[in-house]
Amino acid sequence: MTFELPLGCRMRHPRENDHPAVIAAIGDWWDTPNRATVGMMLPRLFFQFFTKTSWVIESEAGEIVAFLIGFQSADDPTVAYIHFVGVDHHLRNQGVGRGLYEHFFDDMKAKGCTEVRAITGPFNARSRAFHGAMGFEAHGDTDVDGVLAYLDYDGPGENRVLFTRAI
Ligand SMILES: CC(C)(COP(=O)(O)OP(=O)(O)OC[C@H]1O[C@@H](n2cnc3c(N)ncnc32)[C@H](O)[C@@H]1OP(=O)(O)O)[C@@H](O)C(=O)NCCC(=O)NCCS
Repeated sequence: MTFELPLGCRMRHPRENDHPAVIAAIGDWWDTPNRATVGMMLPRLFFQFFTKTSWVIESEAGEIVAFLIGFQSADDPTVAYIHFVGVDHHLRNQGVGRGLYEHFFDDMKAKGCTEVRAITGPFNARSRAFHGAMGFEAHGDTDVDGVLAYLDYDGPGENRVLFTRAI
């Protein structure tokens, strides 16, 4: 553990049966126009095949209050990827997201990674601010409402900002 957890909380790898709780949390925690469907980007397979490089934080009562779903690239083992991160509203701005990221960085460095990547929707100002504060460089090739992003990155209309950071 590389950071201080909120009082009474513990951190562990996710289990397959955490999937419904995490999907429900996404519906509640995400601040995007497609809140209802954003959980579909985190299918159960992440809770079956990527658990060793992912983390959840649960409260004393056993409720999931934060999570990070990430992995080491199978194609390029020097690259790690953070697919999803979320922190419950009541624990925001207390260093929990930073702690999860730094824990993941250390873990991935130990596995031989030198770079971490992530993407986000250009509308997600909070995520962009968070990744900027975490030392990520933002990439894109088109101005989307004042934000540089890649057009149609994940399909028609699915524009994304790419973040990279050396670790
Ligand atoms: C993005 C998110 C994970 C940040 O978690 P958090 O625990 O509140 O973040 P932290 O308190 O650890 O903040 C880490 C840094 O980011 C900055 N930051 C976090 N949220 C910010 C915001 N809304 N605006 C500006 N800066 C912000 C903090 O100031 C802090 O900087 P510092 O350490 O240099 O002081 C959280 O807001 C969240 O779950 N959002 C909804 C889900 C989401 O959009 N996830 C990202 C896309 S997958």
